[in-house]
Amino acid sequence: MSILAITGGQRLSGEIRASGAKNAVLPILAATLLSDQTCTIENVPHLHDVTTMLQLLGQMGASLTVDEKQTIDIDPATITHPKAPYELVKTMRASILVLGPLLARCGHAEVSLPGGCAIGSRPVDLHLKGLEAMGADIEVDNGYIKARAQRLHGAHIFLDKVTVTGTENLLMAATLAEGQTTIENAAMEPEVVDLAHFLQAMGAEIEGIGSSSLTITGKPELRGCRYRVMPDRIEIGTFLVAAAITGGSIRINGSCNEVLEAIIIKLAEAGATIETGGQNEDAWIQLDMQGRRPQAVDIVTAPYPGFPTDMQAQFCALNAVANGVSVITENLFENRFMHLNELARMGADISIEGNRAIIKGRDTLKGAPVTATDLRASASLVLAGLAAEGQTRVFDVHYIDRGYECIEEKLSHLGATIQRQATAEQA
Ligand code: UD1
Repeated sequence: MSILAITGGQRLSGEIRASGAKNAVLPILAATLLSDQTCTIENVPHLHDVTTMLQLLGQMGASLTVDEKQTIDIDPATITHPKAPYELVKTMRASILVLGPLLARCGHAEVSLPGGCAIGSRPVDLHLKGLEAMGADIEVDNGYIKARAQRLHGAHIFLDKVTVTGTENLLMAATLAEGQTTIENAAMEPEVVDLAHFLQAMGAEIEGIGSSSLTITGKPELRGCRYRVMPDRIEIGTFLVAAAITGGSIRINGSCNEVLEAIIIKLAEAGATIETGGQNEDAWIQLDMQGRRPQAVDIVTAPYPGFPTDMQAQFCALNAVANGVSVITENLFENRFMHLNELARMGADISIEGNRAIIKGRDTLKGAPVTATDLRASASLVLAGLAAEGQTRVFDVHYIDRGYECIEEKLSHLGATIQRQATAEQA
């Protein structure tokens, strides 16, 4: 096990490049299972969750070639075991994303039921209901979802709740179903859009991309293709908050500015000057705080285009040292306030009422040993450490490696004092 040791007080400055998006690459890797031809995926970030997804594909029999330029070739022609075992699913809930593609292509699939996790119960009932509407026969037995269908058929599906991976699972399954499928109240997250574009590159017919109503006309088969994964808007947002919380000035190259609006608006409200420019791979975003202390900003999380729940914890850290009082309302996940107790250990003034947190900004936080409880919580503790006086040691940083590529290298490059250290058991 390792920890991140951060000595706060450095104003971040300089330039970094955004990595590929975790939440786009995971469904895209799962979607390669829909064809028996090779897909080449570019801009794949080095993340634990990506390794887990590749292990999953490898165990099923897919051949994988990974090159140094973050490009991966996946040949799923040789799939022999359409099964996602408990051992892998328990380390990554997004493993559920293989269910739709496996069922559609192989006619049967077995995926361990994901359990609860640190940020709440997170059921998958809507994934299963949607697949049943498409003709799947599903039973849950010994902790496994066992699904069968000769060939899925089109269906009219209305999702009771906006679910990102639920929409993605059904979208992928529908591309090989017989006839037309409509998914209403579909998630509109940019990562769902990226997946839909990848599926189109494989030959899928999808209308309504980017809207809450997707119509898919199933094809007998899809082909292999080459595709570049979109930039990670949550990684970009996290680094922008890192600059804002330290009064710094940074530029991020390879950005995706058109999908950052909710985050940009809040950073501007906090007092940052933000500029954007360029297009596609040359797009950039620049934030300048001119040494100022951030102003407190209220946050209400909502499905896209609302403020992303995956940026809530980072803005809690910002508000903990901001000028003024803020109210944070978490609408997507129960229990997604685990970082607040740790921030309080660093001196943050926070009270929680149900799904709302009231944060009174302090002039400063004090470095302390803290423990990460999930991916975005761990990012918020690193950010708080950058702003705190003295040293902060963040334990259980394996969470951060699930979703941030080379976080300490990128932060060091921007002038932060941050080091990864082995804990006593390992040293
Ligand atoms: C995805 C993202 C995660 C992000 C979340 C919300 C990936 C790999 N993960 O997670 O980073 O925080 O979207 O933007 O893309 N729900 C049900 N039944 C279901 C499915 C979901 O009740 O069958 C509920 C969940 O409990 C939650 C809400 O719907 O309250 C939204 O969850 P969902 O969008 O499904 O999150 P994930 O897809 O797991």
